Amino acid sequence: MKPFFITTAIDYTNAPPHIGHAYEKILADVLARYQRQRGREVFFLTGVDQHGQKVQQSAEREGIPPQEFADRVSEKFLTLWKTLGISYDAWAATTAPLHKAAVQRILQDLKERDWLYKATYSGHYSVRQEQFLTDKERGPDGEFGPEWGEVVLLNEENWYFRLSKCSEWLHGFLESRKDFVTPDFRQTELKNAATKITGDLCISRPKSRLEWGIELPFDSSFVTYVWFDALINYISFAGYGVEMDEGQVAFKTLWPADHHVIGKDILIPAHGVYWPCMLHAMGFSDEQMPHLLVHGFWSLRGEKVSKSTGNVVDPAALVETYGVTALRYYLMRDAVMGRDADFSEERLILRHNTELGNGLGNLVNRTLSMTHRYRDGSPKQVSLPADLAAHLAADAESVKTFVVQMDATQIHAGIETMVDLVNRANALVDSAAPWKLAKDPEHADRLDAVLSTLILSARTAATLLLPVAPEAATEILRQIALPALEFGGLAISALPEGYRCGEPKPVFPRLEMLVEGIGDSAT
Ligand code: ME8
Ligand code: MG
Repeated sequence: MKPFFITTAIDYTNAPPHIGHAYEKILADVLARYQRQRGREVFFLTGVDQHGQKVQQSAEREGIPPQEFADRVSEKFLTLWKTLGISYDAWAATTAPLHKAAVQRILQDLKERDWLYKATYSGHYSVRQEQFLTDKERGPDGEFGPEWGEVVLLNEENWYFRLSKCSEWLHGFLESRKDFVTPDFRQTELKNAATKITGDLCISRPKSRLEWGIELPFDSSFVTYVWFDALINYISFAGYGVEMDEGQVAFKTLWPADHHVIGKDILIPAHGVYWPCMLHAMGFSDEQMPHLLVHGFWSLRGEKVSKSTGNVVDPAALVETYGVTALRYYLMRDAVMGRDADFSEERLILRHNTELGNGLGNLVNRTLSMTHRYRDGSPKQVSLPADLAAHLAADAESVKTFVVQMDATQIHAGIETMVDLVNRANALVDSAAPWKLAKDPEHADRLDAVLSTLILSARTAATLLLPVAPEAATEILRQIALPALEFGGLAISALPEGYRCGEPKPVFPRLEMLVEGIGDSAT
């Protein structure tokens, strides 16, 4: 089976990371870890988008070279991904020589095959969005709305990509590949939008206006439009058109990407229209088109997360205060895949304290404590009575459900399955009441069977938590002293010979709300 190839958007290095960036990287990381746990080879690519007007402008404001500015912000992303445990395999930084060479090779090839031409265009241009505007972008009042920022009239020569030559193909493709975009309603949105996109795509910027980009290989007074450059990262860093070193994964075994994980704002037109058309022009077949996994947006108190309004949540500060487990768990638990979510520290704390602390943490703690107290850590091997066998059978069903949910990228649902399993196990502790069984030697076998069942359930719960909270789940498995359950393996209904559990230690220390929330103190 081909390796599981997952990418995220590459983040703009004009500003430090915010909660939306953290969410997307964690989402991709959970899917990557889940696939590795299933035994699949994974190639997880993420990185930074370092070119473009915004980076050049920010660097100018600080009076430093754009590369220095981009490197400094890139470092912030790298540090955060380390803190958050993002297990990427390759780093796509668009100023890397390998990427520049790939972009230039692709441009040269497209030009030779008449996909590019030079023309003069005059029109309205949004400085903030770095794009020319057409009448479609005008609001009901006929004006360009505030989202475009400063709009100026420009008259300039540029290079164009024959996007219009692809429109018929794209319509057909979107009809036949119903699963190009997940969730479905985004594919519908894309199909409707694609019919309205006409004309060609300007893929260059004159150096007089923008220097910070990849030079066109056939016209040195221009650099490449940042989106044309950035999208190519998905193939350039996967080895497209490059001779392989020994041991390196070859492009043809990786491609197409199983998921390009992106936010809803960059589906139309960049990933939904430009990217498939670029690939089509490069000669990729319909079967070689990637899949787009589109997530929703996080807001703060119902408002857009934005540096300019000070409405930001600093993920590094959240980790510092609440820990990586609480943050990863909350972001994955509270956002329904594809839908928007509103960030709340109260909810982060609540999810952690109830589902992880009172739920799984309490289960592990009670189970291991009682096993030590009543059985010196080693329950005797006994055959399970019907009710406990049924309990473990239900756990096995939960694992199957979890696999279906995670395969369908429904991470929030997978977590809910884990929570249900834990609730069932905690209910078993209460109903089976080991502390009562321990008082009566006649119930010795039942006590061994109950403790064994609880240990196995706790192990299954920790297994399901692994992709989302690898640190905490690994620590729980260490305490339980069992390896993670193998997905697809037979449900294990007994502890191994000579089993002895470890000492319980709290894994989810109770979190308290700060007087001043992180979001409030951010500048
Ligand atoms: O768009 N909630 O970079 P970027 C959730 N460089 N996700 C969010 C978000 C929010 N509030 N805000 C942004 C770019 N994102 C380009 C991508 S890919 C070839 C080039 C997501 O730093 C956004 O949707 O503005 C995107 O997927 C990612 O963060 C990077 O956004
Ligand atoms: Mg953006």
